[in-house]
Amino acid sequence: MLARIAAGQYAGSEACRNCHPAQFAGHRKTGHREALSRSWQHTLAAQFPKQPGEWAFGAGAQAVTFVSPLDEDHYLEHGLSWYAASKSMALTPGHRRPDGERYRTFDPGAAILRCFQCHSTGPPRLSGGFRIEPFEAGVQCEACHGPGAAHASSQKPILNPKRLAADAINELCGACHRKPAAAGSDTDWSNPWNTRHQPLYLAESSCFRKSAGKLSCFTCHSPHAPVSREAAVYGGACSGCHARPRHRTAAGGRVCVSCHMPEVRPSPHLRFANHWIGVYADGKPLKPIARP
Ligand code: HEC
Ligand code: HEC
Ligand code: HEC
Ligand code: HEC
Ligand code: HEC
Ligand code: HEC
Ligand code: HEC
Repeated sequence: MLARIAAGQYAGSEACRNCHPAQFAGHRKTGHREALSRSWQHTLAAQFPKQPGEWAFGAGAQAVTFVSPLDEDHYLEHGLSWYAASKSMALTPGHRRPDGERYRTFDPGAAILRCFQCHSTGPPRLSGGFRIEPFEAGVQCEACHGPGAAHASSQKPILNPKRLAADAINELCGACHRKPAAAGSDTDWSNPWNTRHQPLYLAESSCFRKSAGKLSCFTCHSPHAPVSREAAVYGGACSGCHARPRHRTAAGGRVCVSCHMPEVRPSPHLRFANHWIGVYADGKPLKPIARP
């Protein structure tokens, strides 16, 4: 389960800083950078209760969940998470009681190791006492650009995703954000939790399917800047392809994404934009109306 790529091929983001100061400074402001940290080093540490746990998952735009080693065989996902919406602790998604969930470190499903893999960069390793040690905590440069030690030391080529096709970008981001559905597989579109899987939903949109590879995550998001929470800014991306949409419905002063990428709240504290761009019935934000 541990990645086959040797840690030595990774340089760590500090190694990129001097030669790429603009990308480094931009990336520092994103949720990716602090997707994982020691809880006492987290930007929001002062707002957490005392000793909430060893590892803090989530930068805190929406939530932070705590994970701690228990003994040589187990990790605990804490039952109380911190939520930005309420600035307080409440039950972790999927938990029914506040005492948390125990995971076997070497469980065949590797649930706890997987948390670290998606929230860190480079191959995690096991230290003494069977503790999981990420190579570099957070989603850093080499999570998207691939191992960069050879590039940083001797200017060997490195991946620039701007040359990837839209499908390949969905796969790259989908390694963590979840990939588009394989042909024939079943996705439960009525489960609001699935809307957090942006590549899966975007790939269902007519906009994606019928625009010959012109629509990708980067049409709307800049990779080295935090996600904009200003719904109006996304209209610019729409008008690039839809200069004059034919509406019978009055827009009523609302911005494009409020109707066509509606907000979904799988729990009172969390909200996601439905990335299946489409026409939705009022109050039904999970799946667009089927259109001819
Ligand atoms: C010693 C300076 C130096 C360091 C250290 C360095 N780079 Fe670069 N990088 C360059 C130069 C110079 C270029 C432009 C060369 C080119 O475009 O072929 C470049 C180009 C790139 C490109 C664009 C490649 C392309 O083909 O368009 C990416 C992506 C990149 N670097 C990422 C990184 C990452 C990630 C790190 C840290 C692991 C890093 N670099 C470390 C000097 C450096
Ligand atoms: C190694 C796993 C991984 C990869 C690869 C990855 N992401 Fe993420 N991404 C995450 C995690 C984890 C978070 C949650 C960060 C947090 O807690 O706010 C996140 C958050 C985000 C956010 C919200 C960030 C913010 O500033 O609030 C955007 C937008 C995003 N990712 C886009 C992308 C795109 C586009 C790609 C592909 C180029 C990508 N991600 C690749 C793991 C990944
Ligand atoms: C397949 C990759 C993957 C795995 C495995 C994973 N995460 Fe995440 N996680 C993400 C991505 C991507 C995001 C940001 C996307 C989003 O929620 O919009 C995220 C976001 C989060 C957030 C921020 C709140 C939120 O819901 O956006 C927390 C907290 C979190 N993860 C905790 C965990 C914990 C704890 C585990 C293990 C039990 C875990 N994650 C396993 C990819 C993963
Ligand atoms: C979420 C994925 C992601 C992360 C994390 C990320 N990048 Fe990038 N990077 C991209 C994408 C996508 C492009 C191409 C689009 C663009 O240039 O904006 C890119 C382009 C670049 C380029 C080439 C710019 C050019 O002119 O083509 C450099 C250099 C670079 N990144 C460096 C870095 C460094 C250094 C870090 C860490 C501090 C980093 N990136 C983190 C996705 C990422
Ligand atoms: C057509 C524009 C568009 C495209 C393309 C797009 N996004 Fe988004 N994205 C948005 C909007 C709008 C929001 C919500 C912003 C807000 O909170 O107001 C958002 C928010 C997000 C968030 C924050 C969590 C959430 O769901 O609200 C993540 C993570 C994210 N996008 C990832 C991605 C990834 C990965 C891709 C590529 C598969 C992608 N986006 C493609 C428009 C887009
Ligand atoms: C890269 C180009 C591109 C971008 C960017 C884009 N679209 Fe589209 N969109 C398309 C294409 C192509 C179609 C299919 C038109 C057809 O079927 O004739 C489409 C279809 C649609 C439809 C009809 C959906 C259906 O299922 O019938 C809506 C609504 C829509 N787009 C809204 C938007 C909104 C809102 C945005 C911005 C958030 C956006 N689009 C961004 C290319 C794009
Ligand atoms: C108040 C909700 C609302 C807003 C705001 C809105 N739309 Fe629509 N849109 C709809 C509905 C509903 C339809 C289905 C046709 C109809 O009833 O007018 C539609 C249809 C469309 C279509 C498909 C038209 C066709 O020819 O098949 C596109 C493209 C589109 N909208 C793009 C946009 C863009 C771009 C914006 C922002 C400038 C926007 N919409 C703002 C509700 C909205």
